[in-house]
Amino acid sequence: MADDREGPALEPDNVPRGPENYAERFIKDFREFNGVDVDEAIIGGHIRATLALPSRIEHHPRLVIPGEPATIAAARAGLSTGPLILEVGSGLGRFLNGLALLRPDARLLGCETRLGFCIKALRKADRHGATNLWMTWGDARLTIPAIVPPGTAAEAYLLYPDPWWKRKHARRRHGALMATVLADALAPGGRLVLKSDVEPYLQTMVEAFTETGRYDAGPAPLELPLTDRELRLVRAGTKTFTSALFRR
Ligand SMILES: C[S@@+](CC[C@H](N)C(=O)[O-])C[C@H]1O[C@@H](n2cnc3c(N)ncnc32)[C@H](O)[C@@H]1O
Repeated sequence: MADDREGPALEPDNVPRGPENYAERFIKDFREFNGVDVDEAIIGGHIRATLALPSRIEHHPRLVIPGEPATIAAARAGLSTGPLILEVGSGLGRFLNGLALLRPDARLLGCETRLGFCIKALRKADRHGATNLWMTWGDARLTIPAIVPPGTAAEAYLLYPDPWWKRKHARRRHGALMATVLADALAPGGRLVLKSDVEPYLQTMVEAFTETGRYDAGPAPLELPLTDRELRLVRAGTKTFTSALFRR
């Protein structure tokens, strides 16, 4: 997992070994870093958006490789009917797969910088026949504008993003750029749900997103499928925090 608190623990059926309270263990270390050095960075750089699928990896019909225009065209066609739901940082896809089952009418696009996670999420979808779930490899700040026509998404989710504790990684946090990308993709009134176990990071994101002038705060949904990280947090008794923003 890219989260620098975690080792290889984010396997879907991983059960936490003990009552680890991640928030309490790490929250004191969350710092805001102001200044030009924290302008948002594109994970993997712009170069990744030009790369083809590595030859050792098999193509999947619902995997978008931004460097392969045919996969973008396929996704645009495949995602064009039914409400469109986006997730940034889908990990292994537990949440998106849960939502795909609950919302067969919808089309779901998960964005994930780790190619292996994209493939695992798609395999999971294949196991239960969720042909409405697509994944795109790469930083969502680049992939969403490449795939999603402006103003067409009904919902978006940004769930338990990496807090990127260290100054040298803080440019990867979600701020005004991600807020703008998601606002451009969402239809007016479209809902963005943010969750975190690191309350100051959630507050920082909500402030940065609302400062763009593109969102209004609103009621958060009560029940959603759990993410992999959330499942671990719930089992460990760790408090989590949710906010919802609505596209103006
Ligand atoms: C801490 S994990 C959480 C995964 C999942 N949402 C969960 O709750 O289990 C964050 C995930 O977001 C991905 N990620 C981070 N920044 C991203 C970005 N800018 N675009 C797409 N994916 C990103 C990471 O690779 C990682 O899989």
